Amino acid sequence: MRTVITYGTFDLLHIGHINLLKRARNLGDRLIVAVSTDEFNLREKDKVCTHTYEDRKAILEALRFVDLVIPEENWEQKSTDVDKHGVDVFVIGDDWEGRFDFLKEKCEVVYLPRTANISTTEIKKQILTGSCT
Ligand code: CTP
Repeated sequence: MRTVITYGTFDLLHIGHINLLKRARNLGDRLIVAVSTDEFNLREKDKVCTHTYEDRKAILEALRFVDLVIPEENWEQKSTDVDKHGVDVFVIGDDWEGRFDFLKEKCEVVYLPRTANISTTEIKKQILTGSCT
């Protein structure tokens, strides 16, 4: 059993998220998604989500290629998550390229290319400016 883990906020779930999660799941047999809590987003990223942590978790749990959703509450937990959940592969989008190489002593680290031209921030901007198609 090859266990894969990924981290993110996953607010206003979009095709970039789906592409990332599907490719991550295909690197193993089980996908764990660590979802940033509302407190972590506010404290560390100055980000207020549209959907609450509980709703983002429920949406991700409804996807057939997500096996387990856990909270991401701080930057330091990755190392302990890898040990605790027997993780073989850590996956994240290439906007984080190099940032988590320190995990290579514990598991494989893969940076996947982002899907072009879409992000939660961009969707929010389009809604605010009324420029949705
Ligand atoms: N991601 C991706 N392609 C995109 C957007 C996101 O592959 N177009 C990936 C990120 O690299 C990350 C995961 O999806 O591994 C979760 O990203 P998140 O930050 O929640 O999504 P964004 O849409 O980038 O959100 P924001 O605009 O708030 O940063």
